Amino acid sequence: MAELQTQSLKSCDQAWINVNLATFSSTTVDQYGSLRNHALGVKNGLIACITPMSSVTATQLPFNVIDGHNGWITPGLIDCHTHLVFGGHRAQEFELRLRGIPHQQLLHKGGGILATTRATRIRSQEQLIKSALPRIKALAQEGTTCIEVKSGYGLNLEDEIKMLKVAQSLPDHYPIKIMPTLFIANTIPPEYAGRISGYVDMICDELIPTVAHEKLASAIDIHCDCDAYSQQQRHRLFEAAIESGLMIKAHAEQQSCNGGASLASFHKAHSCDHLEYISEEGVEDMARAKAIAVLLPGTHYFMQSGQCPPVALFRKHQVPIAVASDTNPGTSPLASIRLMMNMSCIFFRLTPAEALAGTTINAAKALGIEDQYGSIDLGKNADLCLWEIDHPNELPYQLGHCPLKQRIISGRIIDEYQ
Ligand code: NIG
Ligand code: FE
Repeated sequence: MAELQTQSLKSCDQAWINVNLATFSSTTVDQYGSLRNHALGVKNGLIACITPMSSVTATQLPFNVIDGHNGWITPGLIDCHTHLVFGGHRAQEFELRLRGIPHQQLLHKGGGILATTRATRIRSQEQLIKSALPRIKALAQEGTTCIEVKSGYGLNLEDEIKMLKVAQSLPDHYPIKIMPTLFIANTIPPEYAGRISGYVDMICDELIPTVAHEKLASAIDIHCDCDAYSQQQRHRLFEAAIESGLMIKAHAEQQSCNGGASLASFHKAHSCDHLEYISEEGVEDMARAKAIAVLLPGTHYFMQSGQCPPVALFRKHQVPIAVASDTNPGTSPLASIRLMMNMSCIFFRLTPAEALAGTTINAAKALGIEDQYGSIDLGKNADLCLWEIDHPNELPYQLGHCPLKQRIISGRIIDEYQ
């Protein structure tokens, strides 16, 4: 953190007064880290002053002051797991599935991930940016200030790089922070059918080193559920990932309890995501590795999986829980972070405070950016949301109308809603 010393409110570039803060700071008392009736000042894009209104007099106010009228400020929301850059859509598959055509049959007909790969490969960077922006805006309009975006539909060097460049360029088109992640081992591209070890060679010898060298991603996510890969091949992918120096993440134990989370934890994964079928042993391994459990309720809902991740075990072993949208065209075509918070409460029985921690401080931890983002603490980046609510438990509770008043990035009001 750049600055830990509190500044005087007067010396700040801007201040919000008459606000309640849901800080999600580790140092405060309730689950939200609530500080009622406070003022918050920002300077040079950072949180510089947090002080009770009782200590603020008119002469101490800076030039730019916003009256929050007793609303709440939370950290900007973070969606720490998405696949929102892709070509086309799969509404036709959705319809076929509803008519009872089994998923396996759709895959045999060239559907599923490979359909999106074809649609992604034929599109230019400009086309992919254009189609991703409405999804970014939908998340932003509910208070999201930071989004992780995975590649994984290119499935070759050129198109994976194209996807990551698209992800990296999104903040040039819309005010948002993007964390790009190289996503591998989710399937086998058709040109490598029957030659999986050749594909693993390409990933380890070309794709990962190029992405790391050109700094195209901040993390690498290894899919540990795809049956096409042997445990040995996954080991090799993890080793190449470690060698690259990229932060490690994993899709794990969504389909079955296969030890994916333990394997990822052994390789010091920052997060394991999905986790519907993880065992207690797997949770213990995650706790030892200090990995974050990223839960994806949109996929659970859309695919009607029926299997919930073991939230009680995460609590018991103190594995922090994050909540994300998994926005993708196949299993979670849902670009709504508040819907995800709501679903995590309804389906997985998270408390509203856990759902909000899951999209703020724990999401920041899942991305390795908790030193600068995810809570309201002196010296952290002033990415914030001002909400017209009586209590933060309203945020996962009511849907359809969004009580967001201001979305603030680095201390600047980016979006303002009446
Ligand atoms: O790669 N978790 C997300 N992604 C899924 C596939 C999404 C899709 O069907 O396009 C996966 O397993
Ligand atoms: Fe995913």
